[in-house]
Amino acid sequence: MTFSTLNKIVLASGNPGKIREIQAILADHPIVPQSMLNVVDVEETGTTFVENAILKARNAALHCKLPAIADDSGLVVDALNGAPGVISARYAGAIANDRDNLNKLLRELEGVPAELRTARFICVMVFMEHANDPCPAIAQGVWEGLILDHAVGENGFGYDPVFWVPSHNCTSAELPAVVKNALSHRGQALKALTALIKAKQADVGATLVALGE
Ligand code: IMP
Repeated sequence: MTFSTLNKIVLASGNPGKIREIQAILADHPIVPQSMLNVVDVEETGTTFVENAILKARNAALHCKLPAIADDSGLVVDALNGAPGVISARYAGAIANDRDNLNKLLRELEGVPAELRTARFICVMVFMEHANDPCPAIAQGVWEGLILDHAVGENGFGYDPVFWVPSHNCTSAELPAVVKNALSHRGQALKALTALIKAKQADVGATLVALGE
């Protein structure tokens, strides 16, 4: 079995922005969002991205009896000691939307000069073959940038309108989806995760060949 012939893989995310990006990057693979399989979101109790990604993948694999991919991602701002970090999606409260979170970020950074507004998006992606997989494949992507003092651009989601991408002289909300996916923390993590899954499967294949199976 190769990655491209794996049966369905459940994607442990309910975030439409992330689902859109991950499906675009994994276009050749049979990915089904967990919302289509009635999976109830698990509580994100971890204090690190990797813990939360594993919690989400295990929950989806358990409920769907399928291999699962999960990501946990967020924005890490140096001037805020790493906040919003793992609570990026609920920075302004449990029922906050993207705009509330972005406005809170701008308030917290009021008066901070441009050169101290360094930040990065982090994405950890995990693949678990089943809920008790003791050895998940884990990949991380990092995307460096700066936080503006106002929102610019309509694309993407979350903090994209305030995330300045120095290499392209614009915010990530001004980048076409295909360009964002090529640069982003999520694009990098997915590429690395795909390579890890393929390598794992190649190792198993090589062992079988060595055994003459
Ligand atoms: P998660 O669902 O716990 O991984 O939450 C991730 C949160 O981090 C999102 O809801 C956004 O607020 C933020 N985030 C992660 N990736 C991006 C991105 O590519 N653009 C903008 N915001 C992002």
